[in-house]
Amino acid sequence: MLENLTYQTITLSFPFLNTKFINMKKFIYTFLILLGAASCSSEKEPVYKDAAADIEDRIEDLVGRMTLDEKILQLTQSILGVNTVENNFGGALDKIPSEIGSLIYFSDDAAARNAMQKKAMEETRLGIPILFGHDVIHGYRTIMPVPLAQACSWDPEIVRLGSEVAAQEASSSGVDWTFSPMVDVARDPRWGRVMEGYGEDPYATSVYCQAAVKGYQGDDMSQESRIAACLKHFAGYAASEAGMDYVYTEISDQTLWDTYLPPFEAGVNAGVATLMSAFHNISGTPASASHYLLTEVLKEKWQHDGFVVSDWDAIKQLINQGMAADGKEAAEIAFNAGIEMDMADNLYSENFKELLDEGKISMKQIDEAVSRILRVKFRLGLFENPFTEEKPESERYLLPRSLEIAENAAVESCVLLKNEGGVLPLKDVKTIALVGPIADNQWEHISNWHARGNHEDVISILQGMTEEYKGQARVITAPGCDFDGDDKSGFNEAVRAARAADVVVVCMGHNGGWCGENHSRSTIEIPQIQEDLIAALKATGKPVVAVTSSGRPIDLREVDANADAILHIWHPGTRAGYAVAGLLSGRYNPSGKLAMTFPYSTGQIPIYYNRRPRARTGDQGFYEDITNEPMYPFGYGLSYSKFEYSQMTVSADKVAADGKLYAEVTVKNVSDIDGKEVVHWYINDPYSRITRPAKELKFFEKKLIKAGESETFRFEIDPMRDLGYVNSKGEKYLDKGEYRIMVGDQTVSVNVI
Ligand code: BGC
Repeated sequence: MLENLTYQTITLSFPFLNTKFINMKKFIYTFLILLGAASCSSEKEPVYKDAAADIEDRIEDLVGRMTLDEKILQLTQSILGVNTVENNFGGALDKIPSEIGSLIYFSDDAAARNAMQKKAMEETRLGIPILFGHDVIHGYRTIMPVPLAQACSWDPEIVRLGSEVAAQEASSSGVDWTFSPMVDVARDPRWGRVMEGYGEDPYATSVYCQAAVKGYQGDDMSQESRIAACLKHFAGYAASEAGMDYVYTEISDQTLWDTYLPPFEAGVNAGVATLMSAFHNISGTPASASHYLLTEVLKEKWQHDGFVVSDWDAIKQLINQGMAADGKEAAEIAFNAGIEMDMADNLYSENFKELLDEGKISMKQIDEAVSRILRVKFRLGLFENPFTEEKPESERYLLPRSLEIAENAAVESCVLLKNEGGVLPLKDVKTIALVGPIADNQWEHISNWHARGNHEDVISILQGMTEEYKGQARVITAPGCDFDGDDKSGFNEAVRAARAADVVVVCMGHNGGWCGENHSRSTIEIPQIQEDLIAALKATGKPVVAVTSSGRPIDLREVDANADAILHIWHPGTRAGYAVAGLLSGRYNPSGKLAMTFPYSTGQIPIYYNRRPRARTGDQGFYEDITNEPMYPFGYGLSYSKFEYSQMTVSADKVAADGKLYAEVTVKNVSDIDGKEVVHWYINDPYSRITRPAKELKFFEKKLIKAGESETFRFEIDPMRDLGYVNSKGEKYLDKGEYRIMVGDQTVSVNVI
């Protein structure tokens, strides 16, 4: 305030100024000190720099100080290559304005981040920290099984811990923000990105989504080793026609609400910081142009107060999709729809001034968007801690706890699909032939989207088996063939190994590069050469154990025909070999169950467990040439233990809409091996205003049951939450009448009154 006082007010305040009684020199001196003190207090830290101030006050203060250019740069994300070749601003690192809102960060060198951040903090007018984002999908350096595999663990803690390890490694390397979890419910395994999600079920995906958000963000994102999460791709991306990427999707409002949106709503409720828009076109409106989804649903209905980043070039692609005539119009549409940050295509920074002048976007909208981005930066504590401590790799990566978590995740994710004659676990064997393209392989286990994953860290199955059977059995190996192609020159050696062994373990399937973004496949088959290999091995007459690997459900008809046992390992990550060897030897007991249906063949796609009932029953309407049943259904998976379910009980057969009900079942481990069982609880609403799926998963739980002991599993039913449904506008209803509760092969009816 004092800065603004005029000379006149000063003289008025000091009427004695002109009197001869005053010692002028002393007076001027005192006056200057007073003025100095006053101006010092006026230079006190601005509110936005005050860590103790309320975040909303800090945002308001900072936005009030920003120029239009600074605001537009906050809404922009550029690419920061390694040292770096490529970015949105003409290549050289120093061309990236230090006022940039965010960088996609492709380095794992904290020093590179710190150098950029230093410029942002020290060489810009306001010192706003940059947000460094990266795709940390299933681990950073310690690689966990792919998310689809993790979903087969039916243990949300596996997902939470895996995300926590990823956050710790990523943040120690300078990452503040991961573009994960992907919570696109997926029912078409031809789509390569099914590996990135948690399978076909909306409820399971919701539970895992919340676990992942918790794992990345913790309770407070500003704490050390936490990073911001990003739900993607909002919403319905997995509905891609014919399993292709970036294409048209046909999604009814009903399906949007009952299938695709629940995991996103769960993630928003768990406090996720950000969301990513999607590439696909939803029934005529590209997801990145959807005001309905990005504003009406996300911000107005769900009250999300973080921000939305576009997917890579998704704004520019509105031109390809036939929605915008040029980049300027694309920017206008995307921003008005509700995308705050522009990833990689610079259309906001190039066009916003003009759009503003033309009144097509407003300053109010810009301020609101900037505020949302700053809110995330404040919540991350970036203003207080903008830099990353530069520690040696040995203190950050592959720490013993991280490796233990990765191994456990792999163990719990593998699914035993077949075990005829109890061929597994492999005991009392003297020679094991380990063959197939994944037998002695480190690369494929870390799959696609492996961030800084390094194949040299990976335990191969050969290494795992050799260590597992040291002193007990000889492991001989031969690849037999590659993943694909027609070179059978290695078959003879593989067959010779099989003949010399007591059992053949054939490690086969899809390689790590065949899944992920832009990796759709027209068929889910395993290439012919591998099917020929397993047939040749079977012909030796030796027991055959197939260890199958893939990032999607695959066609296992030929494998099933030729193998006595099948262990599906997905892409299990850094500790692959130890997990697989432990499961084969019986040191670990398999407990995974499928989170996505394995079709009998590609022609059955899409096939998923929670279809709505058909008009005609029996076999009518199904295929004439193949079975109607999937090869392995959702929820399927074997164990070395044997479990028996008691009769299910329910606490009452009637319940009021606001009442409570529970169902229970006791599961006994009737074997002499400790094992974990997953109990899935389903409901069905047989008659309803909107037809409902034949089965809907509503709760699941996994427990260790010791040999000979029992555990009780309980499903607490909140009628509105568990029996109700959403309509095509996202409104929730609960009808009176009959509902069915299902567990194992049992069904009990209850009535809502
Ligand atoms: C993918 C996103 C990813 C982004 C940044 C896009 O092509 O669809 O899932 O987060 O690139 O790498």
